[in-house]
Amino acid sequence: MTSDHEQTIADTLKRLHRTDDLSGIEAIRVEALGKQGWLNQLMKTLGKMSPEELQVEGPRLQGMRARISEAIDDRKAVLEAAELERRLASEVIDLTLPAPETPMGSVHPVSQVMDELAEIFADLGFSVATGPEIEDDWHNFTALNMAETHPARAMHDTFYFGEQDRDAEGNRMLLRTHTSPVQIRAMMENGAPIRLIAPGRVYRSDSDATHTPMFHQIEGLVIDRDIHLGHLKWTLETFLKAFFERDDIVLRLRPSYFPFTEPSVEVDVGWQDVDGRRALGGDGDAPGHGWMELLGSGMVNARVIEFAGLDPEQWQGFAFGVGVDRLAMLKYGMDDLRAFFDGDQRWLAHYGFSPFDQPTLSGGVGARA
Ligand code: DAH
Repeated sequence: MTSDHEQTIADTLKRLHRTDDLSGIEAIRVEALGKQGWLNQLMKTLGKMSPEELQVEGPRLQGMRARISEAIDDRKAVLEAAELERRLASEVIDLTLPAPETPMGSVHPVSQVMDELAEIFADLGFSVATGPEIEDDWHNFTALNMAETHPARAMHDTFYFGEQDRDAEGNRMLLRTHTSPVQIRAMMENGAPIRLIAPGRVYRSDSDATHTPMFHQIEGLVIDRDIHLGHLKWTLETFLKAFFERDDIVLRLRPSYFPFTEPSVEVDVGWQDVDGRRALGGDGDAPGHGWMELLGSGMVNARVIEFAGLDPEQWQGFAFGVGVDRLAMLKYGMDDLRAFFDGDQRWLAHYGFSPFDQPTLSGGVGARA
């Protein structure tokens, strides 16, 4: 009996050594030590033995059991180590390989132009202000001296919120139609003097090739004790020369009307024909030249200054408002405004700007190609 078992154990150990996979080892374990395994069956016979037999057979069978499970554990460890070796060898990471190229986003022309304007105006001592896109009709219209009967207040021009969405003071809420309400908010919050620009989204119920329901404006506001139209003209000239990166920018100030300025001027910029293209620059009255309307501005109406809580006897200033999308189209040569907001990757890849190329006055405010 004893030698039989020794032989079986020797066979088992031999087979273990020849087994190269963990499932084979498991099969051998079940065969010997499983519930129905031969060694387990043998252990069950211990219960029927006399104490003398048990003293001899007990330790002997326990010893056999220990030898087999030890051998199983050892073989498992060897195989697991080999498997680890194999994976370490095959799954190496080569740190010398070039990194996979990650697609880089680009800066949208609207953001680019806003950054350029912020840079230019920062140099002139202007800070950047913002206001809510969901405005109330007092800031958007009333405080800007736009009468109840002003056509811009009509439903077909303006996106209104419902009657139930009035604010605490009972004002009608709307998507702001221009950045001009930021003038009111700035004067009320910070008082004078003021030198700011306010870039942002504005909304009008309007849609065709040159109008989109949402577009972008930049508002400018300067309030101080002795500001006059000359300051306005110089500021606009300096800004447009820096923005278009041309010294020959010529402006024409045309008398106009805005409820929130008095006097009001519409500002045209001279252009000239260059190979069939309109290039900004030069006197618009010269032969082959012309004028292009660019922005609205004027001296802030005394009533607006009063609405905003300042004393118009002490404080005066100028304001202007300009379409950012239009500036981008003129400078970078895009012709369909709607493409700005389609989110077409190909358009963005073509017209977008490198995020690493920050506009600076010393390095050239316009992005390099
Ligand atoms: N808010 C005007 C608009 O949206 C633009 C404008 C004109 C703004 C004259 C001004 C200004 O600040 O003085 O059409």
